[in-house]
Amino acid sequence: MMLDVDLAMGAPGSDIDDGFALALALADPGISLELVTTVNGNTDVATATTLTLELLHRLGHPDVPVHRGARDPLLRPRVRQGEVPAGVERREPRPGPAAMAMVDLVRANPGEITLVAVGPLTNVALAMRLDPTFAANLKSLVIMGGVFNQHTHALGMPGEYNVWCDPEAAAVVLGSGVVARWVGLDVTLKVRVTKEQAAQMEASGRAFASFAGRYTSAWIDHIVQRHPEEGESCAMHDPLAVAAVTHPDLLTWREAHVVVETGDRLRGAMVTDYLGSDWLPDGTTARPTANALVAQTVRADQFNQLFLD
Ligand code: BDR
Ligand code: CA
Repeated sequence: MMLDVDLAMGAPGSDIDDGFALALALADPGISLELVTTVNGNTDVATATTLTLELLHRLGHPDVPVHRGARDPLLRPRVRQGEVPAGVERREPRPGPAAMAMVDLVRANPGEITLVAVGPLTNVALAMRLDPTFAANLKSLVIMGGVFNQHTHALGMPGEYNVWCDPEAAAVVLGSGVVARWVGLDVTLKVRVTKEQAAQMEASGRAFASFAGRYTSAWIDHIVQRHPEEGESCAMHDPLAVAAVTHPDLLTWREAHVVVETGDRLRGAMVTDYLGSDWLPDGTTARPTANALVAQTVRADQFNQLFLD
């Protein structure tokens, strides 16, 4: 498997779920993690790369190859600039850009590598453009991104954050011919870690759990301030996408033809056709073909158990 992250765990008050996605990928006996790539999103890509390397050290897997990816979205300015916290060692990633590393790994192992993308899709789109056989030679593609069954979502933007950051990259992926599994906010907002569970992690005495629990608590405090309607908990968006690889039954899926909005007003919104209608705007009656499998429901209790274990 390869994992593409916009990881910010370890920077105070930052989103932590990419860090847990990485931890889950390493802990799951059904996953062999061959490559980690970084992308701008929750933070700038240099910070994401340093924090990813730091976390791999903390998790006892310093040898997993990490390649730095896109500094900016395909066409738009980057959204966030972060800062590496004092005391974090600045380790160097492997040479060569992320998209190239993805292409090389898939070329060497056609049909064998699953890609899980849990940040903006810039690197994935670049890999698809670099090598036209890349998409077809993936074993599968799982994406944390999108919101499909609501017009707006609780967090106040028309699209989900990863797709919103780089909607043009999402359009490239949707047009690539690969039917990716999209794990969107419809399901990820339902898998949550509470303040109490974060405190239990912190008190566990286990090195990674204590570290991660501390940052999870800080992230929940930040959410309570900005989105009190979410309650004293935070969503585990990205680990759910990793869990979908080895535990696809945690989720139910529906085939769809999805188009992403790239105009500014509805930036990142997904227009989702569940193929139920014969009618097309051009007057024909042919149904569009599916370009996505969209997660519909999640067994949240089962996921939480797996996650906390
Ligand atoms: C997604 O955006 C990021 O903030 C999270 O890490 C997750 O990948 C949720 O919308
Ligand atoms: Ca993410």
